[in-house]
Amino acid sequence: MSTVTVQDFAKELGRPIDELLTQFKEAGVTVSGASAPISGEDKVALLNYLQLKTGGAAPASGEPKRITLKRRETTELKLGGARGAPSKTVSIEVRKKRTYVKRDEMPELDAEAQRLAEEAAIQAEAERAAAARLAAEAEALRQQQEAERKQRDEEEQRKRDEAAAAERQAKDEHARLLQEDPLYRAKWEAEQSRSRAAENIRRAAEAARIAATQPAPVIAAPAPVPSAKKAGGGGNAAPAGRAAPGGGRQRTELHLADGKKGARREKKSKKPSGRVRFDNVHVFEKPVAPVVREVEVPEAITVGELANRMAVKATELIKVMMKNGLMATINQTLDQDTALLMVEEMGHKARSVKASDFEDSLEQAVTGGDQQDIEKEPRPAVVTIMGHVDHGKTSLLDYIRKTKVASGEAGGITQHIGAYHVETDKGIITFLDTPGHAAFTRMRARGAQVTDIVVLVVASDDGVMPQTREAIQHARAAGAPIVVAVTKIDKPDSDIDRVKTELSKENVIAEEWGGDVQIVGVSAVTGQGVDALLDALLVQAEMLELTAPVESLARGNILEASIEKGRGPVATVLVRAGTLKQGDVVLSGPHFGRVRAMFDETGKPTKEAGPSIPVQILGLSGAPDAGDDVVVVADERSARELAELREQKLREQKLAQSHALRMDQVFARMGEGDVKQLNLMIKSDVQGSAEAISDALRKIPSEEVRVNVLTSGIGGISESDVDLAAASKAIIIGFNVRADAAARKRIQDTGVDVRYYSIIYDIIDDVSSAVSGLLGTETREQIVGIAQVRDVFRSSTLGSIAGCLVIEGSVQKSLPIRVLRNNTVIYEGVLESLRRFKDDVQKVEAGTECGIGVKDYNDVKAGDQIECFQRVEVRRTVSAAA
Ligand code: GTP
Ligand code: MG
Repeated sequence: MSTVTVQDFAKELGRPIDELLTQFKEAGVTVSGASAPISGEDKVALLNYLQLKTGGAAPASGEPKRITLKRRETTELKLGGARGAPSKTVSIEVRKKRTYVKRDEMPELDAEAQRLAEEAAIQAEAERAAAARLAAEAEALRQQQEAERKQRDEEEQRKRDEAAAAERQAKDEHARLLQEDPLYRAKWEAEQSRSRAAENIRRAAEAARIAATQPAPVIAAPAPVPSAKKAGGGGNAAPAGRAAPGGGRQRTELHLADGKKGARREKKSKKPSGRVRFDNVHVFEKPVAPVVREVEVPEAITVGELANRMAVKATELIKVMMKNGLMATINQTLDQDTALLMVEEMGHKARSVKASDFEDSLEQAVTGGDQQDIEKEPRPAVVTIMGHVDHGKTSLLDYIRKTKVASGEAGGITQHIGAYHVETDKGIITFLDTPGHAAFTRMRARGAQVTDIVVLVVASDDGVMPQTREAIQHARAAGAPIVVAVTKIDKPDSDIDRVKTELSKENVIAEEWGGDVQIVGVSAVTGQGVDALLDALLVQAEMLELTAPVESLARGNILEASIEKGRGPVATVLVRAGTLKQGDVVLSGPHFGRVRAMFDETGKPTKEAGPSIPVQILGLSGAPDAGDDVVVVADERSARELAELREQKLREQKLAQSHALRMDQVFARMGEGDVKQLNLMIKSDVQGSAEAISDALRKIPSEEVRVNVLTSGIGGISESDVDLAAASKAIIIGFNVRADAAARKRIQDTGVDVRYYSIIYDIIDDVSSAVSGLLGTETREQIVGIAQVRDVFRSSTLGSIAGCLVIEGSVQKSLPIRVLRNNTVIYEGVLESLRRFKDDVQKVEAGTECGIGVKDYNDVKAGDQIECFQRVEVRRTVSAAA
């Protein structure tokens, strides 16, 4: 091989000769000069030296001898967020570096590798320290928050304790009041029932809301509810949802728009709410265990209502019932035993309540308790006049009151209870006039119940009769002392001693005969003995020492009630205690309302009525039953509730009755085979008459035909009454009421038999002779014509003259007439005058105007109708439905 000198090598590498000489020298190769020869070994030694010096990749082979990997990791640490505090995020960055060296090939690099490893370790250590510092900081922050939370918790616990103590105290007080104060208890119980209803509604709404947002709610089963956590919608599951952001389970349906929620949350987070709030999470906490409720079960309850009280869906309850072998619909009524069982079955506690308990407590709340502390003052006596028919009760009262009631009465008998207060020289007395006819037993009984003293009227020419005895019994039953008025002593055949003897047989013994009853002879014609009677009454009243609170809420009794067109329900009330004022809210039976107007017995408007004073009131929601209590309510809400409760009870009673009636009819038909039935519908002017008529008719004995009173009500005859009569093949009996125009048309169309009466014994006679098969002739009333009153003029010679238009048939001067107001008879009599323009005429046809003067009656008003009628003899027929 040819010799290579330093000079040649430098030329070959393109490097200066001096530099090469120095490098050779540094590499430990001895070269003498530029022209000195160098071997191959010298060249390798130089190369190695140079490689070492630069530290670069070994040029000798293509593979890397050392690989360095670098990794940077960033994690986030979340702190805080508890109890509404703002959360804090700390970023932690960890850097790692790894160097891999191929040791077998480059053992000389160990030291370098070692150094690098150490460097990396130091760096890692530093980074760990930094991380630890950050973590420590985080921990400190957490601890601080924890401490704050603890403090808050303690604060809250303290507050809770305080509240609990206060509550305990309130509870004790409440329990004491419940024990000691009946008014408080009643109010509380009423409140309870109200809030129960509200709670039920709220629960239902909540259940509906949950049902809408949660596909599978499981609430009612007695078993624990395992699905609560899985559902991911409850409060407990919420943090999990938060920890997996973007996870499929996180709910997206929100109650707030995204834009709004931040502001809202911030506002809320300012006040410590005691409950952890999470973004986008429903705050409703679903119960994880079944809620055991105490359920009140009344004597009868519908399935729907029972489910409502347990706060479960009706279908749930129905399912449970089916499992127990009971098939029921939602509206079906369950008896108490079944309902109790079902409540237990569903895992709740049942408590049976009697409906009357609740009603009693409500009543207490309504009337505002006993009001015993209100001072009582003397009050006028209430005196009821009772006795046999036509013995002169009304005439006696007329004499005392200087009125003429008796002469205006249809058929000459009293058919209503009348209430009047009379101011005598010696004081005020309130009189109740009762009918003496046998049919009015209940009216008499009512009269006796509200009275302080009974005046037993016995005609001196007639003596003790059946209704005299009945009256004595009523008085005794009511515990009212009796004063006897022996009437008609002006008559030649009068015999007071005979009356006294007959009375003594009934154990009513005169004072002068050693008994305790004052017996006074009177005449309504001459006025003899009337003063003595009044004296006797006042003495009796004084002995009774009658008092009543005046300044309290009024309470009283309904004497009579009716429904009048344009006025609505009208009730005659006898105030027993307190003062009834216009504007008061009153409750009577199921009826309720504000007193819109009040009138005294003469029809004059009044503003208030004290104890023992009778008044007519307007404004009730319906016509109460005669005899019902009426109270001014202290608590309007309870009153409304009580009215509803009573209404419901009444409905149930009616339903039960109608079932009973139907069953009754079925059995009657089964037993009697072919018995005919006379169906009757009664419409009357006032409650008491309707009741008296149906009582009397039901009592009519008959073999061949059964009298069946389908309905009995008050007010004019309406279209629907006629329809009902047509459907049930019934005869309508109108007592002092008439059919309105629409009903009259229906009567013509359907051919329903409608009979008008104004005297109760006419009805009884007609019906009893009809059913006993006594065919023959009967007197029937036919309406000849109707005149509508347009205006009323006062004439100095003729009194008031009604300007009328005859709208149906004709008006004849010779025939009797009735004055109707709102289809109710208000007067019966004859015509004084009938005129066309200035001429007296005998007859006025339909479509013609005329002037009508009614004899002895000046109270005709525009809007009234004057009905002209005649009595005709017709052959009797029995209209009976098979
Ligand atoms: P009812 O209410 O239907 O039970 O009758 P009542 O007890 O109210 O009798 P009423 O006052 O209507 O009188 C019946 C009849 O007896 C009438 O014709 C009266 O004129 C007459 N009458 C009443 N009192 C007296 C009296 O003191 N003397 C005479 N002579 N007749 C009297
Ligand atoms: Mg009378």
